[in-house]
Amino acid sequence: MGKILITGGAGYIASHTNVELVKEGYDLILADNFCNSSREAVRRVGELTGKELSLYEVDLKNIEELRALFDREPDITAVIHFAALKAVGESVAKPLMYYENNITGSLNLYRVMDEKGVKQLVFSSSATVYGDPATVPVREDFPVHATNPYGQTKLMMEQILMDAAKARGWDVTILRYFNPVGAHDSGRIGEDPEYPNNLLPFVSQVAAGIREKVMVFGNDWDTPDGTGVRDYIHVVDLAKAHVKALERLKVKGGVSIFNIGTGKGYSVLEMIEAFSRICGHPVPYEFGPRRSGDIATVYGDPTLAKRELGWEAELGLEEMVASAWKWQSLNPKGYRG
Ligand code: UFG
Repeated sequence: MGKILITGGAGYIASHTNVELVKEGYDLILADNFCNSSREAVRRVGELTGKELSLYEVDLKNIEELRALFDREPDITAVIHFAALKAVGESVAKPLMYYENNITGSLNLYRVMDEKGVKQLVFSSSATVYGDPATVPVREDFPVHATNPYGQTKLMMEQILMDAAKARGWDVTILRYFNPVGAHDSGRIGEDPEYPNNLLPFVSQVAAGIREKVMVFGNDWDTPDGTGVRDYIHVVDLAKAHVKALERLKVKGGVSIFNIGTGKGYSVLEMIEAFSRICGHPVPYEFGPRRSGDIATVYGDPTLAKRELGWEAELGLEEMVASAWKWQSLNPKGYRG
């Protein structure tokens, strides 16, 4: 079996995926530019798996660095492509940075894969490609539509990949993640944002007393309690979907697209209540205005992933919130503490 290149290999989702892959016996090569991640995460994955991981500091925007990596690692047979910038608000403020990083980085990766004859890839896509769907749950054949530059880059990266796969006979699995949350049950690895943009990391920091209160972005949405509804997926379940995707590439060619979510939606208030229950004290919150670009409700139909990938989410809301709280409590300063 060849080696698997993990781009963005020090990031939140990659760290959890790396643990699952090493457990299954995969040999990994990690590449990261550390613009949004830490070497400490990689060290801890090594600690959890008992295996030191090969790590290269590489920026995908630099094609020479990427070529050098492939030259030094001739046994790479497949790639899991996580590396990307992912903050929606920042992408609106700095669109060129997003296009350059996400698109140039991906083009360089695909070009070097082509040069080196690597033909298998699992791609981190996002439910953001469904925009504001006409109905829920969303299926993989629903129309795609970007509402911000970040979403646009994910859509473009999918499209470029599908064209390349067709032209070059690549085998590609595109995973469209819903809202990844939670942490490894050891409490050693988890999400470590500099400033939390997403709901659960923010709620964790409020619960820990690092921030004063959660601002709930609107309570006048067309949902049962007026707050936004999303399909939260435990990051360890998500990690396991990547193992299944790699297994499938060995037996099934062409391009496949799968929703990776639970199929269940929870509101912002339900998430805050669950967190308050688990951490043992009320998490303070206040209703504020809607966040620009938000939508009322999105959750996915994960039937195709179950049927074709043999994957389904096993962990529920309790496990998501409890693991997020354990990570927060044990690592109040993230990987810096
Ligand atoms: N929310 C708050 N307060 C906060 C943060 C979020 O009320 O401080 C609400 C949002 O309005 C939304 C829900 O919590 O209703 C979830 O918001 P997140 O920012 O956690 O997640 P989003 O669904 O907005 O976006 C996430 C990722 C995107 C990805 C998208 C896919 O951030 O990268 O899911 O659906 F594209």
